[in-house]
Amino acid sequence: MCGIVGYVGKKSVVDILTDGLEQLEYRGYDSSGIAVMCKDDIKVYKAVGKLKNLREELKGHENEFASSTMGIGHIRWATHGAPTVLNAHPHTCNCGNLVIVHNGIIENYKELKENLIKLGCIFRSETDTEVVAHLVARKYSQCNDLTEAVRLASKDIEGAYALCVMHNDCKQKLVITKRNAPLVVGVGLNEFYAASDVPAIIKHTNKAVYLSDNQIATLTPEKMELIDGDGNKIEPKAEILPWEPVALSKMGYKHFMLKEIHEQPDVIRNILVGRLHAPDENVVLDEVKLTKETLKNLNRIQIIACGTSLHAAMIGKYLIESFCGIAVDVEASSEYIYRKTVTDEHTLVIGVSQSGETADTLTAIKQSKAKGSHILIITNRPDSAMAREADSLIPVSAGIEVSVAATKSYVAQLMAFYLLALYMAEIKESMAVSDLTSLKAELMILPQKIEQILAHKDDIQRVAKCYANTKDFIYIARGINYPTALEGALKLKEISYINATGYPAGELKHGPIAMLDETMPVLSILMNGSVYEKLLSNSEEAKARNARMIALTNSKDEKLNDLFENIIRVPDVQELFSPIIAMIPLQLIAYYIAEFLGKDVDQPRNLAKSVTVE
Ligand code: AGP
Repeated sequence: MCGIVGYVGKKSVVDILTDGLEQLEYRGYDSSGIAVMCKDDIKVYKAVGKLKNLREELKGHENEFASSTMGIGHIRWATHGAPTVLNAHPHTCNCGNLVIVHNGIIENYKELKENLIKLGCIFRSETDTEVVAHLVARKYSQCNDLTEAVRLASKDIEGAYALCVMHNDCKQKLVITKRNAPLVVGVGLNEFYAASDVPAIIKHTNKAVYLSDNQIATLTPEKMELIDGDGNKIEPKAEILPWEPVALSKMGYKHFMLKEIHEQPDVIRNILVGRLHAPDENVVLDEVKLTKETLKNLNRIQIIACGTSLHAAMIGKYLIESFCGIAVDVEASSEYIYRKTVTDEHTLVIGVSQSGETADTLTAIKQSKAKGSHILIITNRPDSAMAREADSLIPVSAGIEVSVAATKSYVAQLMAFYLLALYMAEIKESMAVSDLTSLKAELMILPQKIEQILAHKDDIQRVAKCYANTKDFIYIARGINYPTALEGALKLKEISYINATGYPAGELKHGPIAMLDETMPVLSILMNGSVYEKLLSNSEEAKARNARMIALTNSKDEKLNDLFENIIRVPDVQELFSPIIAMIPLQLIAYYIAEFLGKDVDQPRNLAKSVTVE
């Protein structure tokens, strides 16, 4: 997590840095800071909390940096040390001549720190980053070359980092490098930008160079020089970024989350383009690079993911197992990486990640790759670290998702699983053609059904408000919608801080039912299909304990009015697609409750969009 930016060129730098950091606020917002090359020397400005505090801090200092055209900036998600000004980046060496911003974790910082203290370095912060400032400064004092100093220092560092470095001796030079953390260089005319992510630069340029691990770039207004970790020259390869600056605007919505919820019908249409033309045609999924023969004989799949992506993976398991009869295991990446797994070259490993940068999933992917598994990545970021590890890559094309709470990327991940499961079922001939045709026909009309739900969002808002002051919230479901219950609960707790939990309804009686009384809202995801009657009985059991019952349903059953104090009705849909239809009202409930409570919907406390620490 954390976000870094850098700029060297001819333009006034401070607005570029602060605007860039604003676009990276999704990566953390515990503190922020910039370092700017002013007339005589580098000046550092920092503030605790959100970026607006840094903007306040900068007021009154305009004369100092009015003509500055080079600088670096940082937005922090605290790992080592509390969110204080002292711990905020940029960090400096003893004499303050060298400044540095860092995203990642320096794993061997303690031993480096001990050595540096022995050599006379004075530490002012509790961060792991400060060791890098001192380390590079010491190397610089030996070689008098900033690029070489960064290269030598990086040899001593273990862990993950993206770094931007400036030195008072080099008035027009930025040195940047990375290992296991994202870093992109934006290429302009007589100017270069550096950033942890595209949103920070896309307003200025769509031409970019992605650094590979251990590469070091030296940026001056005129040129970018790139070397590898051994000092060999590399020709930078620029690519055109697919992002549109407009994607970063709220487009009139109060929050990005609400905008992103509304984008979901188009997200589904986008992912279907070129992959599903008509119900009676086969799914085209050229991104899957396994041969048909291998797919036919596949008998084990392992899916790894975190958070919302993990919930999408759980539904993916359900789909693949029911469409194709292939056994699928799903595991949280953070658990998968610390145990002896039986993944091997006969296992297809699917990694699911919105950001493509989540450290736990990335590590899990690398571990399975080392064991010879074919790696299929489902991500919204085809330019991410995970995408680069992929043997097969399914980009979900949801467009950039700014709100920390994932919404449209989740629905897009589900769509990727529907297409994958259908594609494999067609190859394996594991389903009747008529069933496949009917599923594909329904898939193609999902966007209209979501639009119907969005058209009645005021009704959902009304229901949501009834429960805004509750402390706890339970979601129950069965079968394919059990992960929907988990995801609905995750959305609510992420942005409203209400203690929400999802349960498989059949488990209620094994413990959770003890919590039910007249204060507890229980939302039952009661979709027509194989478990409808069972879930209805479980809802009756909860009602018998006086819980405040809410139904989310596509049933027209009038009897429900007696059982539930509120009913949210959604369009009818085949059970297999109900996770998509059910999810939209759950996202809206979470949104409206958080909005009603006045919470910071797009940037909830303690969270970050891209979790690049294990
Ligand atoms: C989603 O609302 C969450 N913020 C979070 O659980 C997220 O899904 C998780 O951190 C995984 O991220 P990824 O999809 O980018 O790998």
